[in-house]
Amino acid sequence: MNTSQIQARPAGNVVLALETSCDETSAAVVVGGRTILSNVISSQVPLHRKYGGVVPEIASRKHIENIIGVVDEALTAAGKTLSDIDAVGVTYGPGLVGALLVGVAAAKAMAFALDVPLIGVNHLEGHVFANLLAFPELEPPFVALVVSGGHTSLVHVRGFNAFELMGQTRDDAAGEAFDKIARVMDLPYPGGPEIERLAAAGNREAIAFPRALVGKDNLEFSFSGLKSAVLNYLNNASQKGEPVILPDVAASFQASIVSVLVEKTLLAARKAAVGTVVVAGGVAANTELKQELSSACARNNLRFFAPPLALCTDNAAMIACRANYKLEAGEIADLSLNAVPSLKLGNS
Ligand code: KG4
Ligand code: ZN
Repeated sequence: MNTSQIQARPAGNVVLALETSCDETSAAVVVGGRTILSNVISSQVPLHRKYGGVVPEIASRKHIENIIGVVDEALTAAGKTLSDIDAVGVTYGPGLVGALLVGVAAAKAMAFALDVPLIGVNHLEGHVFANLLAFPELEPPFVALVVSGGHTSLVHVRGFNAFELMGQTRDDAAGEAFDKIARVMDLPYPGGPEIERLAAAGNREAIAFPRALVGKDNLEFSFSGLKSAVLNYLNNASQKGEPVILPDVAASFQASIVSVLVEKTLLAARKAAVGTVVVAGGVAANTELKQELSSACARNNLRFFAPPLALCTDNAAMIACRANYKLEAGEIADLSLNAVPSLKLGNS
């Protein structure tokens, strides 16, 4: 027996996970929930860009074309074969139903053929757990701000398998607001990184855009009024023939979103009486958001964690991480697992 090889192998279950909830086809192999052996992401972003957003039917078809190749690549990059896999995890919601179904069907087939447990994972819980991959010392309890193209939620993570939704948006998600405003400014999809780039050259105090529900003792968000205010500002200027400084619009818009997200996150941390805050989801890639959250947490003696860029946007490693903790808790799905497009956080 070669003991050096055994010692070098990270301990824990080898989980293969699939993520196909939106426009990234991803497969990853993660050991013991925390060690990423591979995380392959095939992005469809260039394909959807010409439509200004994700076209669900195109996304589903592309997932079908990509999934087997992405799984093969993830296994090869991890130095594993299917026989090494202890469990198969998959995102089963929330997301686009046709897109989710591709991952769910593939995961069910693999789990059945390999005779290993199948784990259904909530996409948002996956985003939260991206932080566990990045920070080995991080453990619940903590409050997570989940900000993506489809969601803006504050979650009290009481334990590895105990999630409580504290508040969410009443209308648009933060990422959706970034994408919609980028679109009216003729910036390509996805809009978040484009607005951030433009904002870097602008004055964040140039225009006083609204900050909805700020100062209220609740943990709800609303971004549709902000979206309308920016549209009105641009339309008024164009009707009057006045020049618009787009970097100032981008910077003021971003400042409005960021200040609301920071205020509500601190309120959630106070209400939950936790000492740790994490951010997750695609909008967590935003530097101003991370900086403002980080300094607000420092001022309030809270530890703050934000995942690196590659783990912020959709990827299967975060799904494998979450699947590992569900596996350890015996939360195993059967072959009746179906896609649940509007799956709620905390009910899974
Ligand atoms: O989590 P994600 O990859 O997919 C969803 O589950 O929605 O998030 C994508 C969202 C898009 O709305 C995109 O515009 C936004 O994240 N995003 C950003 C940035 N990078 C991506 N928003 C603001 N600033 C960024 N740097
Ligand atoms: Zn996502």
